[in-house]
Amino acid sequence: MPNVLLLHGGAGSDNTYTDALNRYASNTASMKSKNPLDFVVESVRLMEDDPSFNAGTGSVKRIDGSIQMDAAVMVKNSIGSVSAIERVRNPVMVAREVMLQTPHVMLTGDGAVKFARAMGFQDYDPTTERTENIWKKMVDFFNGKEVELPERYSEYYRYAKIFGFPQHKDTVGAVARIGGKFAAAVSTGGSSPMMRGRVGDSPLPGAGLYAGENGAVVATGIGEEIIRKMMCYDIYREIGTRPLGEILKEKVESFGKVLVGVIAVSEDEYASYSNSSMATGISTWP
Ligand code: GLY
Repeated sequence: MPNVLLLHGGAGSDNTYTDALNRYASNTASMKSKNPLDFVVESVRLMEDDPSFNAGTGSVKRIDGSIQMDAAVMVKNSIGSVSAIERVRNPVMVAREVMLQTPHVMLTGDGAVKFARAMGFQDYDPTTERTENIWKKMVDFFNGKEVELPERYSEYYRYAKIFGFPQHKDTVGAVARIGGKFAAAVSTGGSSPMMRGRVGDSPLPGAGLYAGENGAVVATGIGEEIIRKMMCYDIYREIGTRPLGEILKEKVESFGKVLVGVIAVSEDEYASYSNSSMATGISTWP
């Protein structure tokens, strides 16, 4: 089976990002490594550094104006994860260090930041003008001002009733099959609007990602719903029982109108499915 690297730019991202994602996939595919972990981390790092995406630079702000990010990596029997990490440029790289350098699976909050500094990750502010403006709109909305919101938010008005502001999208992720072995990586600024301290699906194995001997799966979308359904493990355990695309479609559609997307790779297939637009990029090579 050929090697495969499949990326997504988040449920809700549109096809304008496809060229960039294909470029990131093919740049990453030219790496010399044979370790699938290297491929998913490097491709997620490239997406974290692209301010178009809600991960790393470009992560959305919490209601209080802070930025806390979640990221994780997973291969068969190993996981590294950070949640609510602040002021680092590449959370996915810190997640990899958690897996490789500590006896733990997940570090959170200030402990994750301290660990990142000890590993040499410098202080970094991931705020961009775009995310500053999104946050200002949120503040205006909470203050009762009329704000103009993108059309694609319209289906999330039920969240607006709960939180006072429509849900936001975007997580970036990658799955790889390299030399018959699998890896998954994911990174996100979260799902706005959200309270400080909120943790989504992305850093939680089984929910936001899963990888094992039969494949790798990464989710994007509204984290709370993805956690409730343990989406990635739910998909993983059905790998090999029927076509992968069929599994993904059925699982995503079970979320109804809740924004969700997923990418997956198995021994002989790869697939993506989302109930909204979701840009993907792919590279395959012998
Ligand atoms: N899927 C990203 C989040 O909800 O945090």
